[in-house]
Amino acid sequence: MTELNARAAKLDAEDPLGYLRAEFDLDPAVVYLDGNSLGAPPRQVAGRVEEVVREQWGRRLIRSWPERWWVAPERVGEKIAPLVGAAPGQVVVADSTSVNVFKALVGAVRLAPGRREIVVDATTFPTDGYVAESAAELTGTMVVPAVVDELDDVLSERTAVVLLNQVDYKTGRLHDMAAATEKIHAAGARAVWDLCHSVGVLPIELDALGVDVAVGCTYKFLNGGPGSPAFIYVPHHLQAEFHQPLPGWGGHRDPFAMESSYAPAPGIARARAGTPDILSLLALDAALEVWDGVDMTAVRAKGLALTGFFIECVDELLGRAVEVVTPRGEWRGHQVSLRHHDASTLVAELTARDVIGDYRPPDVLRFGFAPLYVTYGDALRAARALADLLAERG
Ligand SMILES: Cc1ncc(COP(=O)(O)O)c(C=O)c1O
Repeated sequence: MTELNARAAKLDAEDPLGYLRAEFDLDPAVVYLDGNSLGAPPRQVAGRVEEVVREQWGRRLIRSWPERWWVAPERVGEKIAPLVGAAPGQVVVADSTSVNVFKALVGAVRLAPGRREIVVDATTFPTDGYVAESAAELTGTMVVPAVVDELDDVLSERTAVVLLNQVDYKTGRLHDMAAATEKIHAAGARAVWDLCHSVGVLPIELDALGVDVAVGCTYKFLNGGPGSPAFIYVPHHLQAEFHQPLPGWGGHRDPFAMESSYAPAPGIARARAGTPDILSLLALDAALEVWDGVDMTAVRAKGLALTGFFIECVDELLGRAVEVVTPRGEWRGHQVSLRHHDASTLVAELTARDVIGDYRPPDVLRFGFAPLYVTYGDALRAARALADLLAERG
């Protein structure tokens, strides 16, 4: 036990990203391991939201639309672009992930004429599967579920699009984006990636890998706040042919001309639909400032080390009382999932002790390790709290 304490203290003292925790408004009494569901607030967000409400809205009133609000979706998209390996002009912030999955799938099917199947990761977060069914119905295609490791079994000349998650929401398993994208392209299909659990976690190279479309949320590891808008990436070379199914005025080439027929904007703005959610969008804008000067390689290194240390603590303190579901090697994101038949109650009891993770049915306890603010001490405290709980049950 004391050996683990000493290790945690040493790792925290030597952590090159340790200084970033002070940038977040966190209760020191709480161990927060749910940043893979809702990130913690960077300190500057509260003041910025107040400034937006009081000054931009309160004083400038509707003048703020042309002055700064209308172009905010593209401007904030440019802040996300380096985090996903995208050159400028290819990422826009708009709508929710679910809505963007819909735009992405229908738009991508239209980029693969004559092909009739949408392959979807069989263990995907439910919203992606639900939206894929609807996209298939509307485009006259069908959904084919697939195990990500066994794509070869389903890819064929019928495949239009493949929708995959880079990191599995339940197990934390990391998939090989380079290998899967290459296979999908070799089959002549389009690769659509959901980055919800990988953006802000590891270096992502969308341009370099030739990904066709990608979407992701901003309220997890990007700390944008509850319900902050999602993003969508479409590379320059596909934008002219990318016809998304929600042609609202926000994506029109000249929205304020009020033309009676739709003509898409020439660039990534065509992925927009309606009026942007300015308060949430500008909260996200402020939250993204914490990434200035942060090296994603260091973030990844710390995420692997933190999750690795937590697994070690679990092994030592809990033994076989729980099963570690997350891969122990490098193929994991920044979460650790543990299996226990009473996971739901355990998560509630941990929360009562100020250790916050979450539960995914039927039997998974999920702990997210956001490298910008989680410490090795937090990881040890969480494992110890769980071990204590189980020991008290006898
Ligand atoms: C992989 C994945 N996709 C999509 C979503 C959610 O979509 P939305 O932002 O529309 O709620 C989640 C939410 O946790 C998710 O984990």
